[in-house]
Amino acid sequence: MVSFTTSWGRATGRLSTLVGERCRLVSPGFRLASCISRPPNLRHSNYTFSRAFTVSRRTSDEANKSSAIARRLKDPEHAGQRARLREFGLDNRVYVVTGGARGLGLVLAEALVEAGGHVYCLDRLTEPDASFHETQRRLLASGFDGSLHYKRVDVQDAKDLDWVISEAAAAHGRMDGLVAAAGVQNVTPALEYPPEKIAEMMNINYTGVYLSAVACAKQMIKYKTPGAMCLIGSMSGLVANKGLITSVYNSSKAAVMQLGRSLAMEWGQMKEFEGVTDASVAGSHLGHKRGIRVNVLCPGNIITPMVQKNFEDEPHLRALWESGNMMGRISEPEEYRGAVLFMLSDASSFMTGSHLVVDGGYTAW
Ligand SMILES: NC(=O)c1ccc[n+]([C@@H]2O[C@H](COP(=O)([O-])OP(=O)(O)OC[C@H]3O[C@@H](n4cnc5c(N)ncnc54)[C@H](O)[C@@H]3O)[C@@H](O)[C@H]2O)c1
Repeated sequence: MVSFTTSWGRATGRLSTLVGERCRLVSPGFRLASCISRPPNLRHSNYTFSRAFTVSRRTSDEANKSSAIARRLKDPEHAGQRARLREFGLDNRVYVVTGGARGLGLVLAEALVEAGGHVYCLDRLTEPDASFHETQRRLLASGFDGSLHYKRVDVQDAKDLDWVISEAAAAHGRMDGLVAAAGVQNVTPALEYPPEKIAEMMNINYTGVYLSAVACAKQMIKYKTPGAMCLIGSMSGLVANKGLITSVYNSSKAAVMQLGRSLAMEWGQMKEFEGVTDASVAGSHLGHKRGIRVNVLCPGNIITPMVQKNFEDEPHLRALWESGNMMGRISEPEEYRGAVLFMLSDASSFMTGSHLVVDGGYTAW
């Protein structure tokens, strides 16, 4: 039996060296494939490796034991090969990530590109953070099929959002999803909060999410590609985060959670998508009727520029937050990649109007 396990990505790989029980795959984006045995005719052969598939030759016994998912998800492109968790694939799909110039938004955007998506990061910064360019270079060097773009947009500007998102959709003839991560935080005691500052934060953290979701939904309707949205809430929408004096931020995140449920109800069954099933949407083969799914991700404390500023201003917060969850630490943005991929892909096809809490147990005790 010879089995090659690939990263997400499509490439033609050249099997160039065989060292003992392992073989090296020379192609951008692919580092190592396991080579369990070594038939002589494999040396220097060319293979095409495809996103999210394990390319393998198996014994007839193994071939007969296909998983429930492999049986359900017929793979027209690779008939005869075994699909591995294909419902997580985002090949050729198009996504908008607001707040994608840095921090959590950027890390999540990278994950969507790795899974095959074309991702448009929207942010109000004139130039994205240096980490954006590093991410773009890394993705290019790795040879992933997807792409990462940057557009300057303030999520409070409905017209600009509509324009930029319609341009992104027109470039690919589809719109498949949104990660609404643009947000601000402001530490101010309630008794001192200037009314105009309350309105400013709600405009970004709530209205900005609302407008971004509507702009994406319009394009999904136009191109008949009902997709999925992941609104970034926070555990601060569920509890008052210990020691952080942010009443307006916390309320804005609770509002995002209620927005998610409301949009999920409105957009779950739209006449505009009548007759559209998964089977008629490229990249998906489930055959269910479809609507737009909307869910909210509620992260715990994450090390991002936003939180680094909190620690600069109030150094005691780090120890307080670390001891506030069951893992005894602050999370990294990368720890949300799996959650967002789940929420945007067909892997969560029956999940809508819901929220996913990923907080190291902070809200569970
Ligand atoms: N860091 C955490 O601990 C944490 C925890 C839970 C939820 N969140 C949420 O995650 C999201 C990302 O936060 P982060 O920690 O990466 O913060 P961040 O400050 O590093 O990133 C936020 C991004 O949003 C952009 N942005 C702000 N206002 C905007 C506007 N009007 N239009 C367009 N872009 C705008 C910023 O320029 C920035 O690039 C936020 O919604 C935040 O509330 C963060």
